[in-house]
Amino acid sequence: MTDIIQPLRGTRDFYPEDQAVISWLYENMRQVSESFGYQEFDGPFLEPIELYAAKSGEELVKEQAFVFEDRGRNLITLRPELTPTLARMVAQQQQHLHYPLRWWSFGPFWRYESPQKGRSREFFQWNVDLLGLDSPEADAEMAAVMAVFFQQVGLSPDQVQIMINNRRLVDAQLQKLEIPPRKQGEIFRLIDKRDKLEDAAWEAYAEEIGLTSKQLDSIKAMVEDEALWEESEELVRFFRAVEALGVGDYVQYAPHIIRGLDYYTGTVFEAQAVTADISRALLGGGRYDNLLADVGGDPLPGVGFAMGDMVLAIVLEELGLLPEGRGVTPADVLVTVFDEATLLPSYSLSAELRQAGLKVSCYPEVQKLGKQFKHAGRIGSRVATILGPDELANGMIAVKDLESRKQELVPRGEAADFIKKLLDKASSS
Ligand code: HAM
Repeated sequence: MTDIIQPLRGTRDFYPEDQAVISWLYENMRQVSESFGYQEFDGPFLEPIELYAAKSGEELVKEQAFVFEDRGRNLITLRPELTPTLARMVAQQQQHLHYPLRWWSFGPFWRYESPQKGRSREFFQWNVDLLGLDSPEADAEMAAVMAVFFQQVGLSPDQVQIMINNRRLVDAQLQKLEIPPRKQGEIFRLIDKRDKLEDAAWEAYAEEIGLTSKQLDSIKAMVEDEALWEESEELVRFFRAVEALGVGDYVQYAPHIIRGLDYYTGTVFEAQAVTADISRALLGGGRYDNLLADVGGDPLPGVGFAMGDMVLAIVLEELGLLPEGRGVTPADVLVTVFDEATLLPSYSLSAELRQAGLKVSCYPEVQKLGKQFKHAGRIGSRVATILGPDELANGMIAVKDLESRKQELVPRGEAADFIKKLLDKASSS
């Protein structure tokens, strides 16, 4: 074992059972995105670091981005998130695209973080974004996409909640406290750390950024004021629209949610598991009305979110909601090989059955039939075929049901239909 080169810290190997979970998530994400009329897109995995320097925030750029120099001495980043790429792609084609624009994507991202439960250095994100609308109803559509996804994978409102706040509302409160606008970024970071730091460390951080104890008390009160949203016309409209979309049970106001990325300007989202034993967010997102201009485009409002695969899979696993037995059935049919003379005819038979739409693998060499059947059982095949010299001479195939152990001789031309019926019967029983 010690001779095997170890994988990099914070990366994951996807054995077939693990890959099956990713494929299943991707499929659900596709279905939900398409049910809201979103179009799939993707960008490069490599980007120049300046793209994120535009507005993602210092932590992401200076601490978390994987950056390296290419042979031409350019600084290259493995994408830590998609939103700046999306903004650039829209800006490049801004006059030719139709708005509102609804795009979604699924793919890998990289951040240099300390690996821990629900967090690694290489992870997947589902991104969903809506550009060209600046209404609270557009924000509500985002919440509905998240909620319908949760419904689809079996997560109820008792198990997950989407938390909402609004940065404009928080800003207005900070102004009332006479906190200078230049301090806004630091205060947002302070609020973002409320859940992540112990009380004493949090207060020390507040002192570090120069808050008086009176200001700190007011901020504490603000992040606990459950009724503050009523002062925000945007949030009042947002919650009404969420009800109209039928997902009100999944959504709640949470005055302490602010999110870490600098480009958010209005409503922000975060989803949390209520019952599962994990505190990290399932997803994060928000409204970003200045990002298009920040990457060089014309001003264009946008809102979106990204859901990672890791916390989601942990929550689904803990609640017993991951699909079982996936990734273990590569082929329904194993074509066995009887002897040297029938090896190639068996290969031809496997091609015929595949052509007829069956999933078929062919045993690669002559072996005792018992051993071949055992292999079929191990890889999860339900049916095996036998093509010996007699069958070959008579244009017949022996088809064996590996569960009932029953074997029947059928004409070669009818074998595919016979097997399909057998499989149908097996899957419906
Ligand atoms: P974010 O809040 O940085 O937002 O990340 C969104 C989600 O990605 C997180 O809630 C988490 O599920 C997952 N994630 C992030 N970092 C890691 C990690 N190191 N390991 C595992 N999962 C992770 C964004 O990325 C924004 N670009 C989202 C967005 C789209 N905003 C508007 N549109």
